Amino acid sequence: MAAPKPTVLIARRLPQVGLELLAGTAQIVEGGLETRPGQLRELAAGVSAIVADPTVAVDDALLEAAGSGLCVIANFAVGYDNVDLDACRRRRIIVTNTPDVLTDATAELALMLTLAAARRTSEAEADLRQGRWSGLKPDAYLGLELSGATFGIVGMGRIGSRYAELVRAMAGEILYVSRSPKQEVERELGAERVGFDDLLRRADVVSLHVPATDETIGLVGRRALRAMRGHAVLVNTARGSLVDEEALANALRSGEIGAAGLDVYEREPAVTDALLGAPRCVLLPHIGSATTRARDAMARLVAESVLAALQGRDPRNRVA
Ligand code: NAP
Ligand code: GLV
Repeated sequence: MAAPKPTVLIARRLPQVGLELLAGTAQIVEGGLETRPGQLRELAAGVSAIVADPTVAVDDALLEAAGSGLCVIANFAVGYDNVDLDACRRRRIIVTNTPDVLTDATAELALMLTLAAARRTSEAEADLRQGRWSGLKPDAYLGLELSGATFGIVGMGRIGSRYAELVRAMAGEILYVSRSPKQEVERELGAERVGFDDLLRRADVVSLHVPATDETIGLVGRRALRAMRGHAVLVNTARGSLVDEEALANALRSGEIGAAGLDVYEREPAVTDALLGAPRCVLLPHIGSATTRARDAMARLVAESVLAALQGRDPRNRVA
């Protein structure tokens, strides 16, 4: 008799291309978009692999509920701050992510948020759609012109570097903060590595591209917002926990900074009333990698990682 297929739990949903790759080898159980942590723990009992995403907390309780047969967590994202890596390491569970394939999509969204926030397109479009537009006004919707602007990039990794390439055509200076120097972007794009405070003081646009870690959580709070230029645009496509949302809403309301473009929030999917009511603010629902090309490629990577781990091979995008 053939050995039973291992079970893969898709905590929420996986694009079809990923499901098809897994189907021959594994039995698939899907949680669905509304699955609560308690239900997920019930579904996890006895599974060999879990496909998670940034909305799924992969913690001790989930790993415990899965039991000793669990060998891999494949995260449908490049960021993996939702996964307790130490808990996985203690149990010798492999953790993988989906780098590179979403770099273009996310950097393009950061560029879009930069332009939209600088030019106040959300409030202008809302006025038009709601019948509040009464024709061109010489002094309405005045925004920040980006040609010649100084761009400050926090985290010059894959997405930060691609964003630097995209803004190069209009940027005056490109400043960046990163743990290690990036000679290629310095050489090719003329970027200058500076300290965080220097970047805040000089940049017209500050775009965040660092992962959420103990060192970066709360990076942009009251102090950082005060240090930014009065017309500066803050863009966050990285993680909501990097920014103190209440302080940001206050800074927008008081005119301490010029505008903000956000794709990520501290307590997703909740968005605070303070932010919803803040002026000069473009708010998107975590769609950085939401192109068909990126999402299909992420699904393929996730499936390949699960299959590799189930077959005793080392997956390509292993983070633990
Ligand atoms: P990456 O290639 O690892 O780049 C991260 C960069 O941040 C690296 O250059 C790293 O420096 C730097 N860094 C890390 N900790 C730092 C610190 N404490 N201070 C200064 N720099 C620090 O990652 P990526 O692929 O570009 O992705 C970045 C993040 O974007 C992800 O972690 C995820 O949270 C977010 N993301 C969001 C979406 C979305 O849908 N909105 C989509 C994709 C990704 P070193 O190079 O020196 O290590
Ligand atoms: C999305 O947020 C990711 O980290 O890929």
